[in-house]
Amino acid sequence: MSFRTIIEPFRIHSTQAIRHTTPREREEALRRVGYNLFGLHGDEVLIDLLTDSGTGAMSSRQWAAMMDGDESYAGSRSFYRFQEVVQDITGLREVIPTHQGRAAERILFSVMVKPGQVVPNNTHFDTTRANIEYTGAEARDHVIAEGRVPAKRHPFKGNMDVAALEATIAEVGAARIPLVMVTVTNNSGGGQPVSLANLRAVRAVCDRHGIPLFLDACRFAENAYFIKLREPEYADWPVKKIAQEMFRLVDGCTMSAKKDGLANIGGFLAMNDARAAVQCRNLLILTEGFPTYGGMAGYDLEAVATGLEEVLDEDYLKYRLRSTAYLAERAEAAGVPVVQPPGGHAVYLDALALLPQIPRSAYPAQALAVELYREGGVRGVEIGSVMFGKRHEDGTEAPAAMELVRLAIPRRTYTQSHVDYVGEVIAAVAKRKAELKGFRIVEQAPWLRHFTARFAPA
Ligand SMILES: Cc1ncc(COP(=O)(O)O)c(C=O)c1O
Repeated sequence: MSFRTIIEPFRIHSTQAIRHTTPREREEALRRVGYNLFGLHGDEVLIDLLTDSGTGAMSSRQWAAMMDGDESYAGSRSFYRFQEVVQDITGLREVIPTHQGRAAERILFSVMVKPGQVVPNNTHFDTTRANIEYTGAEARDHVIAEGRVPAKRHPFKGNMDVAALEATIAEVGAARIPLVMVTVTNNSGGGQPVSLANLRAVRAVCDRHGIPLFLDACRFAENAYFIKLREPEYADWPVKKIAQEMFRLVDGCTMSAKKDGLANIGGFLAMNDARAAVQCRNLLILTEGFPTYGGMAGYDLEAVATGLEEVLDEDYLKYRLRSTAYLAERAEAAGVPVVQPPGGHAVYLDALALLPQIPRSAYPAQALAVELYREGGVRGVEIGSVMFGKRHEDGTEAPAAMELVRLAIPRRTYTQSHVDYVGEVIAAVAKRKAELKGFRIVEQAPWLRHFTARFAPA
């Protein structure tokens, strides 16, 4: 028998209270933090959609495994379990644990990337880009054209533009490209997937030029489930087999276990090249710890190992992708345009389309993010000109490509009624859209200003 309702495939075993605040408390909080939602105390937020990274709920199996964590400095039993689970999914021989994704990136790029080289990716996540640029190399984005247009529908908007990749190789020469990366899912746009056909095409290009291919694998399970849903040849494959096929096509990966590791902290670097792995482990010892724990406690290794097993459960993935799409539908029904189709882990509201009266110099997406908090205690994040606007020497600014508010959904944390509530808050704000006004920045840091800037109503 098949029922229409897709349920949360878990029952709630332990709860954490969230508290309603009054409109007055929220107004005071907004004033105190200079209208920057990063400044809020967690207890001032009712539904926190700031990020899906490290904010998920762990299962009773994960907590139980943590109790059994082996804290041996060297050779921890928990490491060997972790290694076995990672090898089973990825097929990669060398497994190097790290405290989170960016540590894996820093170690990998320190070993493989030299100044003046170029690393192509579908879209570099900001820590990936920063770690590549820190080595003196260039990070280039080659996502397909559809991936850059919010309203455009495409089943695999995260795909790499293979022709653009070939053009870059022809331009700079294969010798200057130490590796190609593909980010699954592509974080920009809320987690747009990459197809197996595309990964195979990228692999073929890399093979022709002798360039290693790495996955930024943070949301590999969500990507694998999108493949099952949208790439007809794989409709009958178990999602674990699809994930294994994705990893079979690469020489290595970086992973933040704070996403599809279903853990609050952790990550790893994995590869087949034993010589590069020795260099990576030597570096790891400098900053992370011994190679059998790499910046994690034994209990973290257990949490991640169990999380990696659980994340491939198809009922979980069905619920996960459906709940993201459901929030997008609620926003659209309220008359708020969203990036289409919704990705795996987040919904992006298009503030530019919703609030045409606010000039881009007055940060329409900041205005929308602030209003969602003011209306109902919902915290999202501005992904627009506050975060990505280009500042010129003369004090003027060029706006970012888009003015979006990202609502990222923590894993297994909120229920459908929480999402319905967020939908109502969005609808209430949309009803008053003509009244919304922009902001000006009154204080800002020289870089990454979005974290600490203070604003005043324009
Ligand atoms: C695609 C992608 N790569 C890398 C990272 C970095 O991982 P971490 O935050 O664990 O350092 C993130 C985190 O959000 C991400 O989304």
